[in-house]
Amino acid sequence: MSFSKDFIWGAAAASYQIEGAAKEDGKGISVWDTYSHTKGKTKNNDHGDIACDHYHRYKEDIALMKEMGIKAYRLSISWPRILPEGVGSINESGLAFYNHLVDELLAAGIEPYITLFHWDLPQAIYDRGGWKNRDISDWFAQYVKVVVDSLSDRVTKWITVNEPQCHILLGHVDGSHAPGDQVSIRDAFIMMHNIHLAHGKAVQTIRKFAKKPGIVGYAPNPWPGIPFSNNKNDVEAAKNYSLSGTTRGLWSNTWWLDPVLSGRYPEDGLAYFKEDFPFDIIQGGDLEQICQPLDFLGINMYQGAIIQYDDQHGYIEVPRKTGYDKTAMKWLVLPEILYYMPKYLYERYQLPIYITENGLSLSDWVSLDGKVHDLNRIDFMHRYLKELKRATTEGVDIRGYFYWSVMDNFEWSEGYNERFGLIHVDYVTQKRTLKDSAYWYRKVIESNGDIL
Ligand code: NOJ
Repeated sequence: MSFSKDFIWGAAAASYQIEGAAKEDGKGISVWDTYSHTKGKTKNNDHGDIACDHYHRYKEDIALMKEMGIKAYRLSISWPRILPEGVGSINESGLAFYNHLVDELLAAGIEPYITLFHWDLPQAIYDRGGWKNRDISDWFAQYVKVVVDSLSDRVTKWITVNEPQCHILLGHVDGSHAPGDQVSIRDAFIMMHNIHLAHGKAVQTIRKFAKKPGIVGYAPNPWPGIPFSNNKNDVEAAKNYSLSGTTRGLWSNTWWLDPVLSGRYPEDGLAYFKEDFPFDIIQGGDLEQICQPLDFLGINMYQGAIIQYDDQHGYIEVPRKTGYDKTAMKWLVLPEILYYMPKYLYERYQLPIYITENGLSLSDWVSLDGKVHDLNRIDFMHRYLKELKRATTEGVDIRGYFYWSVMDNFEWSEGYNERFGLIHVDYVTQKRTLKDSAYWYRKVIESNGDIL
């Protein structure tokens, strides 16, 4: 068995990272507009005012997607482009943009997978307390209804929230992402709970108002442990590490997965954080609302840790080798994550899985011959996809793979320094160039993964 014949080969991007047109046609500002315009917050003080100018160039971009043969494109909707104040009056031009985008994709034979929240929180909502305010879940549901009313006659694939861990923890605890806060652990848990509630209410809204039956999922970024060896103890330690509520503090995977998929917070995590967890804010019925039946689990996968059994502590993280294989961002190349994480999660939650993101940044440039020879991207994708194939071959129900990203874009606090794309973007001229990896990916898609 290999990839199923209707396996979805796609690529992904997100509104703030590519659209630009940050203040055009009535769009409201998001926390990322504010943050990136605060001096010293992003590399080179880069911001998303223009980004890839996708807002104006989406037709050209979709033609390139078609050329590379992708079957699906995962995009996100900017909440403040639709509702400039976060709630209340609707910006019709914003809705029109996404309607045109969807029509153009469908005409090109590319299926849109829509992410409803990919970090560009309306500034106006933040000013009303943001994720700290319990009402945010209702505000989010109201926004979701507007999107669903407008697009669900054509769109049937929905993802509620992208990487809630990064948005809450980098943005509100670490301070290295917008809005750049450093709140207490208790407040971080309150935000976690509210984003879970927002997810649940979004699912209910889609189910209730969508004009066509569709599929709904969630896209966290679990951090996997890979066994150091095939020794039984190492294998077990790596799995326990990956399905724990304590191994990585607030980042521990099950804090972000169990409530949504099993309707409970992890017991080990609750015991560990008993001083800080806001037991008083969980209301009766919350967990039922959070745990809505889902059609799939999306996972964003980049790296992980190598885990070895240890008598004393149960496990240790094996230090990275000197000169380890790394991406331009210095992220560890660890292809086995695409084997182990889907396997662990499929076993635990029994839901079909999509890899909603996987990719790497490289220092690509356009060569003298006018092409972009990103050999290491091809090698990376080849290695990771082989591991994904191994998981499907062993019966893990994996339905799709979205490379991150369809094009180079604004990599949050790293600005334009990092290039993750299959399409090279020259930010001065806005010229697009398909990289060698895009042509290679086309062959993977044409063969449905047989060349891997
Ligand atoms: C995860 C995020 O969803 C995406 O926005 C980001 O650009 C990539 N990872 C790469 O860091």
